[in-house]
Amino acid sequence: ATLTVSTTGGNASSPLLYGLMFEDINNSGDGGIHGQLLRNNGFQGSSQSLLAYAAVGSGASISIDTSTALSSAIKSTLKVSVVAGTTGYVGFSNEGYLGVPVNADTYSNYFWMKGAYSGTIILELVGNYSGTVYASKNISVTTSADEFSYFNTSYASTQSPDGSNVWRLRFDASKVSGSAIWFSLPQLFPSTYHGRSNGLRQDVGNFLEAMNPTFLRFPGGNNLEGQTTDTRWKWNETIGPLEDRPGRQGDWGYGNTDALGLMEYLQWCEDMNLAPVLAIWAGYSLGGTSVIGSALTPFVQDALEELEFLFGPTTTALGALRASYGHPEPYDITMVEIGNEDFIPCATYAQRFTPFYNAISAAYPNLTIIASTANSNCLPSPLPAGVWMDIHHYLTPSGFVGSFNEFDNQPRNGHAIFVGEYANTNFDSGAQIYWSNLQGATSEAVYMIGLERNSDIVKMACYAPMFEHFNMAEWSPDLIGLDSRPNSLTGSASYYVQKMFANSKGDTILPVSSSVGFGPLYWVASSTVFGKYYVKLANYGTTAVNVTVNIPTASNVQDAANLESFTGAADAINQPLDVIISPVSTTVIGSAAGGWSFLLPGYGVGVLTVNPA
Ligand code: AHR
Repeated sequence: ATLTVSTTGGNASSPLLYGLMFEDINNSGDGGIHGQLLRNNGFQGSSQSLLAYAAVGSGASISIDTSTALSSAIKSTLKVSVVAGTTGYVGFSNEGYLGVPVNADTYSNYFWMKGAYSGTIILELVGNYSGTVYASKNISVTTSADEFSYFNTSYASTQSPDGSNVWRLRFDASKVSGSAIWFSLPQLFPSTYHGRSNGLRQDVGNFLEAMNPTFLRFPGGNNLEGQTTDTRWKWNETIGPLEDRPGRQGDWGYGNTDALGLMEYLQWCEDMNLAPVLAIWAGYSLGGTSVIGSALTPFVQDALEELEFLFGPTTTALGALRASYGHPEPYDITMVEIGNEDFIPCATYAQRFTPFYNAISAAYPNLTIIASTANSNCLPSPLPAGVWMDIHHYLTPSGFVGSFNEFDNQPRNGHAIFVGEYANTNFDSGAQIYWSNLQGATSEAVYMIGLERNSDIVKMACYAPMFEHFNMAEWSPDLIGLDSRPNSLTGSASYYVQKMFANSKGDTILPVSSSVGFGPLYWVASSTVFGKYYVKLANYGTTAVNVTVNIPTASNVQDAANLESFTGAADAINQPLDVIISPVSTTVIGSAAGGWSFLLPGYGVGVLTVNPA
């Protein structure tokens, strides 16, 4: 195939095209990207249990005390009782999310404690089966029986060879003989992304940053919606001190601590230079209830209050609250999405969307409002000018390849497109995949080429779900995952396609004339304002294709171009701790007039980069 790229004409490409979608699913928040490593630390969610905890030392026992609250939000605490006459050090352990990852790192440790005690507390990171102590810190404390006291310390750890580790806290049993001590909100953090307190894991932050994403859609997804109106994600219960955050029963079967709350999401955006796409609850909960009419008014008001908290001057009560939590400047948010997947409660969406739209756009006329569906049957008619529409696709490989031209004939009428969730989830046979294989990832690349060719109106696209904790996933496939083992952070085949494409996005999509039509080879060419050219290619055939790329009118480009290729067996899959396919870079020597020639294997993805001289 010969592709001849024109250096004139074409369309502007959306600067935001490739971003991230995040919700707490698969323990991707608690136990995933959020740095806090201890599980069930506030007994949040609908059912309370001692999950992840164990008593340490003979003579000690643990229980949940529902009558000794840390705060009005954290109503239950951990009671450690000591049998009279016990000596030595006893206490409790927490095994985190199927093991505490223990690396050569410095850990920050926080906890609340109540009870008449004056003496040493021993904090340790310990091999669960080996008993090896990787980190140990003694602190002296004096606490009273009348109120909880807060402790904050840090210590270095050595490397554990595996993920079977626990954090444990022990105290001098002889000083609590026949009595008890209470603990609440123990927290353990490794190094965090940008060194933030209550921050993201540094390793995960860096892994995502390498994708060069441009936006973050949050907090859901289904996890925005709640099974009932009352269990929806409530912005105002995810801000401020952690002891004031009650958490909630998330929509993916486990309690959410909401330690990764509204301001932590926005900190993530600021640190990774992402444009926030803030989803607002839109009156529908997954149990099937739509709130409509005057009953919706308090929820519209709640959305306005959320926006005032985010944007309001510090002379307003909510703006002042934001400032008191450490962010006096208004947040830089330009996009708000009303709801999630409202093609499901299609019949009520128009009457729910409109009050939110009217109130929000009246108060903040510069915000871009996104409807959570593009199904015109569910949208108000006419859809207000400038509203973008969110489309979701969970498809087979053939489904993605067949959708290559989905937006070629999309009306250019001001209603831009956001592909807010997409992934290859099933083989063409219909069977579900675990993680994407190369063929599936190539099919996503074909679809993404179609998105980029239309990125004058397709403003943003993001794979979903983004993350899983291995062995705690409700939903597969996912883009990346980890568990407690060292170096377990793994990118799927889809991750590498996302990374390749987002790191090679031009500003202008250039016209290409070709010796063949689309299929099985697909391409899109672009240029940057700095004189760089990118040609993205996906070969969705079984045989290799010889490709020559000419850019005859390009001036001042280097003869040595870079070809990043992502190839292998069609069924090759990256698995946890077993990355067998990742992109490889080679140099292709050519010239603008004579072209750059190379072979793109069957089921392969490639990006040719031609650099300015
Ligand atoms: O990405 C997983 C789920 O798929 C999302 O929560 C929901 O929006 C969609 O149905």
